[in-house]
Amino acid sequence: MAENIKAVELSKNQREISISEFFTRNRHLLGFDNPTRALMMVVKEAVDNALDATMEMKVLPEIYVELKQLAEDRFIVIVEDNGPGIVKQQIPNIFAKLLYGSKFHTLKQNRGQQGIGISAAVLYSQLTTGKFTKIISKIHPKKPAHYFELHIDTKRNEPIIERDHEVEWNKDHGTRIELELEARYQKGKQSVDEYIKQTAIVNPHTNIIYITPEKEKIEFPRVTNDLPIEPKEIKPHPHGIEIGTLIRMLKDTTSTTLSSFLQNDFSRIGSKVASDICQDAKLNVKSKPASLTNEEIEILFKVIQNAKIIAPPTDCLSPIGPELLEKGLKKEIEADFYATTTRPPSVYRGMPFQIEVAIAYGGSLEKESQVRLMRFANRVPLLYQQGACAITEAITDINWRVYGLQQSGSNLPSGPAVILVHMASVWVPFTSEAKEAVAHYDEILKEIKLALQDCGRKLASYIRKNVKAKEQKERISLFEKYIPELANALSNISGENKSSIEENLKKILNKNMSKLNESIEGNENDKTKN
Ligand SMILES: Nc1ncnc2c1ncn2[C@@H]1O[C@H](COP(=O)(O)OP(=O)(O)O)[C@@H](O)[C@H]1O
Ligand SMILES: [Mg+2]
Repeated sequence: MAENIKAVELSKNQREISISEFFTRNRHLLGFDNPTRALMMVVKEAVDNALDATMEMKVLPEIYVELKQLAEDRFIVIVEDNGPGIVKQQIPNIFAKLLYGSKFHTLKQNRGQQGIGISAAVLYSQLTTGKFTKIISKIHPKKPAHYFELHIDTKRNEPIIERDHEVEWNKDHGTRIELELEARYQKGKQSVDEYIKQTAIVNPHTNIIYITPEKEKIEFPRVTNDLPIEPKEIKPHPHGIEIGTLIRMLKDTTSTTLSSFLQNDFSRIGSKVASDICQDAKLNVKSKPASLTNEEIEILFKVIQNAKIIAPPTDCLSPIGPELLEKGLKKEIEADFYATTTRPPSVYRGMPFQIEVAIAYGGSLEKESQVRLMRFANRVPLLYQQGACAITEAITDINWRVYGLQQSGSNLPSGPAVILVHMASVWVPFTSEAKEAVAHYDEILKEIKLALQDCGRKLASYIRKNVKAKEQKERISLFEKYIPELANALSNISGENKSSIEENLKKILNKNMSKLNESIEGNENDKTKN
């Protein structure tokens, strides 16, 4: 047999699959698996980009979100920002080409990272309605605004420009996107409303105006005019890379020698460490990075992993900070008690990250018996896949009864509380492209638990002093009601005067009551001090 006939037959069908075609079939991988979630995802991708863009430009974000309902299952989503805008030539690529973006190739604490966010929303709109996505963007007060109508050519993963002209736009700079999609609107824990509210909590420097499908205008005003510290970009840490990445980096580098490659393309490698590594790997410091053989790269990789290299810099992180986290939480959730903790930065697989936790307790939350969990990654609310997230695991691993909440087995605790966890990192390890759950790295779990325990201790001390005292007070006032009856019975037994017994019982009660009041007041003063 000269040729395997089956192989020849198969070869006729073997061809490249474009990324757009792939996600057309696998939209669930991007979080577009049902119409309710799709609505949230589209808003989320657009708002995340708006916040990243305003951060790049260092302006206080003014974000406008509108949902227009056209039919039971059809909506228009409009999101507008006052960011730097997008240059005309890039608009089609950004919105109508998957895996096109500015954030993937940098290690920086951003909301987006994959370059697949907004174009996925455009793809979903196109698939479910066939409508074009409308973009307006303007980069300077003196330059014209550009209007585009776009589709994605899914076969080639390239933009199709339906319309493109200049428009009047009463704005100095910024971007506006309008998409039509099949979707469903609901209220509750996984809604657009909740996503926006939680976004406002962890972005206290942001103004958001939100028009609901019922045409209600909800404003989320900023509570600080301070911009977050701008996160710095960092180079990968040598201990965080895999051999495949090293091979690619050696090929792509602009450095001409191995030594300069190690120093320029990684963080925390100086000339001494670089020459030690080369020596241990028996490689010449002057060799051309691209000329290394596979065997040499394998040895180099092992040597790098075993080399003593200091941890990556952590000033690349921009946490919310305890004061603003409390302010943000206070403005959206009315409670009796707030506690916050910002842990020092830490590292997983060479990636710096930092954990923050806040707990709110009592007040308006008394209506709820279930603890409300709010998860965030780089200031983005994570509303889906709670069960798959490392944050949830860290919470259920803790014995909350010690901290005054109820908990059955290793479930989420219950009680009138919100537990908020924020992970800031140059690269958040999501479990999937839908970016809704954080992967279970030991270092990350450990940090979350430490932060939770710290906040838990503050909560426990508040509950011990305050809530217990209040309960006791209630018990005392209940007892007060029975004093006349009790005095009567005692007087019958002892023959003593009934009213003097009554008098004495009241005295004892009052003494206990004032002690409790003192302890509650003292505690409330502590609270205002915090
Ligand atoms: N509103 C916007 N203003 C300015 N630039 C934007 C805006 N939205 C998107 N971009 C640019 O388009 C790129 C692609 O966005 P996206 O597909 O959401 O991927 P990602 O946010 O993961 O990079 C971003 O990296 C950013 O450079
Ligand atoms: Mg994005």
